[in-house]
Amino acid sequence: MVLSLGRVRLASHCAWLALALCFAAASGGCSTTADDDTPAIRGEQVLPPPAPLGTASLDQALSARRSIRTYDGKVPSTEELSRMLWAAQGITDGGGHRTAPSAGALYPLELYVLSAQGVFHYVPAGHKLQQLDLPDIREDVAEAALGQDVVRQAPMLVVVTGVISRTRAKYGDRAERYVALEVGHASQNLLLEATSLGLGARTVGAFEDEALRSALRLPSGTFPYYILCIGRPAP
Ligand SMILES: Cc1cc2nc3c(=O)[nH]c(=O)nc-3n(C[C@H](O)[C@H](O)[C@H](O)COP(=O)(O)O)c2cc1C
Repeated sequence: MVLSLGRVRLASHCAWLALALCFAAASGGCSTTADDDTPAIRGEQVLPPPAPLGTASLDQALSARRSIRTYDGKVPSTEELSRMLWAAQGITDGGGHRTAPSAGALYPLELYVLSAQGVFHYVPAGHKLQQLDLPDIREDVAEAALGQDVVRQAPMLVVVTGVISRTRAKYGDRAERYVALEVGHASQNLLLEATSLGLGARTVGAFEDEALRSALRLPSGTFPYYILCIGRPAP
């Protein structure tokens, strides 16, 4: 499989470092976002198509899923990340419907991927990652998560956030409940996909909301719900 970005073509074995270089090559300058405090977008990369990679059946993934606390340090590949993000929020038909159900098909969730290469925002339309103008903030996220070692040591984190106002416009006071339910749907999809790929993950709900919001410089109205720690289980 080959990643294409303009004239830059990279063989599939190039992982996160090369992906970050692609982003760097793509960023002729920083675009600004609507909210002044949110990080600029440094570049955008279309992820590899989410081709089936795992060999486990759904039943096997359900049986094998376990919360993993220690990892071998190797970062999941771009192809594995593509598959996990697709499982969580990928678009599965021409109408824009996704892998996880959403109240009123309003899709309030936004996913952020954190690694040594920085911070990336998943864009389901076009199955893309945007690299944000932020450094590796995993240490700050671990601090926000009350210093939990599992957060500090995971080579990759996915932070699941929600924009409640998208759902509130139609469902009023039910919105907070609906968004929380959707976070569960999307996160479980990702966990099962990670399991089927032979990866390990642990969900973390214990964190200080404001500290996490501040580390990610989330747009106002975007709330962090869950930190998913992902890596290869330590032998
Ligand atoms: C809502 C929620 C919040 C959680 N928060 C944390 C956490 O902050 N830190 C942690 O190490 N595990 C956390 N977990 C993982 C649980 O400890 C784990 O799911 C439980 O021990 C059962 O083990 P299993 O997932 O392997 O079946 C959380 C799980 C859920 C569902």
